[in-house]
Amino acid sequence: MIEAQTHTTELTFDVEKTRKDFPILNQQVRGKPLVYLDNAATSQKPQVVIDSLVRYYTEFNSNVHRGVHLLSEQATEAYENSRLKTQRFINAKRSEEIIFTRGTTDGINLIAQSFGRANVHEGDEIIISGMEHHSNIVPWQMLCAEKKATLRVIPIDDKGEIILDDFEKLFNNKTRLLALTHVSNALGTINPIKQVIETAHKYNVPVSIDGAQAVPHLRVDVQELDCDFYVFSSHKMFGPTGIGILYGKKSLLEVMPPYQGGGDMIKSVTFEKTIYNELPYKFEAGTPNIADTVAFGATIDYLNTLDYEAIHNYEQELLEYATGRLSTIDGLTIIGTAREKTGVISFTLDGIHPHDIGTILDTEGIAIRTGHHCAQPVMQRFNVPATARASFAFYNTKDEADVLVNAINKVKEMFS
Ligand code: ALA
Repeated sequence: MIEAQTHTTELTFDVEKTRKDFPILNQQVRGKPLVYLDNAATSQKPQVVIDSLVRYYTEFNSNVHRGVHLLSEQATEAYENSRLKTQRFINAKRSEEIIFTRGTTDGINLIAQSFGRANVHEGDEIIISGMEHHSNIVPWQMLCAEKKATLRVIPIDDKGEIILDDFEKLFNNKTRLLALTHVSNALGTINPIKQVIETAHKYNVPVSIDGAQAVPHLRVDVQELDCDFYVFSSHKMFGPTGIGILYGKKSLLEVMPPYQGGGDMIKSVTFEKTIYNELPYKFEAGTPNIADTVAFGATIDYLNTLDYEAIHNYEQELLEYATGRLSTIDGLTIIGTAREKTGVISFTLDGIHPHDIGTILDTEGIAIRTGHHCAQPVMQRFNVPATARASFAFYNTKDEADVLVNAINKVKEMFS
């Protein structure tokens, strides 16, 4: 009754059938069929996830880990089931290595404030890359400012790939952590994180991976990657907002101090002394986001019905098609041309501000993001104030790419 709906596994990918799972896609926006190409900002939700939220509030809304009554038992079971499903989804060794947070940003701040404050001291160094989202820059800057430590940055080349030759030179005996994105939200670059993690481990440096833009597109196996932390958000992978996942190796999480104090993260409290709870509860202070965590379990059930390899092939074909069509537009420059990419196409149009592009595309029913994408250093690296960004998910189609191209041509006509 609590278990989210399960499906049998399909072996191929049928985009038209899959689109029907996402009710929001079937609507008109400004009198035109919606073309949703803002998936890197947030993805849409399948009906089974929406149903799971309704079922939770309709049938067993109650607090977890506290009540002796039936509803509380049901809520606790559903909440903990989501943890088990997450563990299996990313192949973590143990369920207590899965910490539920508010999102990727919250997870990174947890690592910075707990692992970071305990392990980074004056004169130490943290390595990040030049393509990080602000959420994987600012928490480390704050830590460095507090501890008088230094942030070192892996440079990126003109394609938007990290420069591996320069990367290894950044390590020394003061390096305490490498924090790197798996996939760039602004460029779409897929970083060679397995190789990078291996290099960092050669220097005994733990690695934290921001997986927010990777999990919607790629199968992640944290044991195979051997990353020390991996953080991501439900809402970018077709689940509800307000729920994030922090994976950490047990050996690290166990010795890390709590991030926040409060209920549920304690075993006992007196005015003299508090004994903290065991993992994962030590890092889940207060009433968690129960409904969304339960619905996140339903999201994983849904994703498990899809063939990731078929999806990956489909998305790559779509990316190649859209890139090819956009490249034919005179004056359009694609920012981010890495060899390995997910379906993110950031671009500029000569003489037209990205915000104008976004506003005009909106009148055509097309949703894209414009601006710096919370990655201002990337904009500085490419010497642009902003870009327009079309970001694709597996439910997008080549027809939608065509609609985008035609609308961009209209934008150009309006400014000619
Ligand atoms: N990080 C999200 C994006 O790239 C919000 O749009």
